[in-house]
Amino acid sequence: MNAKYQNILVLGASGYVGGTLIPELLQQGYRVQAAGRSIGRLRAKEWSAHPNVKLAEADALDIESLKKALEDVDAVYYLVHSMSPQSSDFARDDRLAAKNMVKAAEECRVKRIIYLGGLGDADSHLSEHLRSRHEVAQILGSGPVPTTVLRAAMIIGAGSVSFQLMRYLVTRLPVMITPRWVRTPSQPIAIKNVIAYLVGCLDKEETAGQTYDIGGKEVLSYEDLFQIYAQVAGLRKRWIIRVPVLTPHLSSLWIHLVTPIPGYIARPLTEGLRNRVVCNDRRILDIIPQDLLNAREAISAALKK
Ligand SMILES: NC(=O)c1ccc[n+]([C@@H]2O[C@H](COP(=O)([O-])OP(=O)(O)OC[C@H]3O[C@@H](n4cnc5c(N)ncnc54)[C@H](OP(=O)(O)O)[C@@H]3O)[C@@H](O)[C@H]2O)c1
Repeated sequence: MNAKYQNILVLGASGYVGGTLIPELLQQGYRVQAAGRSIGRLRAKEWSAHPNVKLAEADALDIESLKKALEDVDAVYYLVHSMSPQSSDFARDDRLAAKNMVKAAEECRVKRIIYLGGLGDADSHLSEHLRSRHEVAQILGSGPVPTTVLRAAMIIGAGSVSFQLMRYLVTRLPVMITPRWVRTPSQPIAIKNVIAYLVGCLDKEETAGQTYDIGGKEVLSYEDLFQIYAQVAGLRKRWIIRVPVLTPHLSSLWIHLVTPIPGYIARPLTEGLRNRVVCNDRRILDIIPQDLLNAREAISAALKK
């Protein structure tokens, strides 16, 4: 535990990463302010009754509610994205939410912000979702509060929506007709490794103000990943037929049809599958050393949950 930071706000506590991070922060001895737009959703979490947890209703689009949640807070984990039915333009909302966080954090004298965003090369033709993740990193980093940005590809874990998308596709489709994105290189990471990096950044002062790429042990195509998933789940080898003509828009419609993932999430995620999401920078490995899981181990851990 880093004694400089006693009170930690987790914004996005009702989400997958936020909800998984909180027990680890408590374990390390931090006091946690768990914030989200719905107190009901936060109360439903196992950790909500822990004596070192306070629940706070905060909407990043409403700066006053943010300031209230930030009272006496030393550091913030910013684990928010606006892909939801309430948002007609997630990139606009994420931009506003990040700007509000910068202002509120400055006013409330927050000492650190840690943000988990997306990988992807800024000079390539990024999907709207990945572009928006990068924009949030840039906005948070432009404020006076030292911000650490971690950039990840798919997180492999039981409640991660991108992992669920893959799970449904592979389970439901023994034969898949896919566009070229099935060969895109990506470097998925196990949730266990993501949490260790997030907590480690708070501990290591030198990570303040820095951006790091975080990834698992291997670079794999989505096709490789689908086959590994099928093996670990005890399914027969999948037939993957690549066609050149399926546009990202068509594949997102198709994914929406075969999985229960709603279109407002499936579409932005599917459009991002064309982008290479591989770590270019491995500095974090020296600062926060840990055993990285390979995809097989990560999938196996997720399926056990
Ligand atoms: N999952 C992955 O594979 C993956 C991969 C790479 C990076 N990431 C990044 O990790 C972060 C967390 O992702 P996740 O997978 O945990 O997402 P998630 O499960 O969908 O959670 C998103 C969170 O954002 C909150 N939120 C949305 N709009 C908000 C607002 N206006 N004010 C306050 N909270 C708001 C939601 O809270 P409500 O309860 O209020 O809706 C929810 O807690 C994101 O930045 C994402 O880009 C995730």
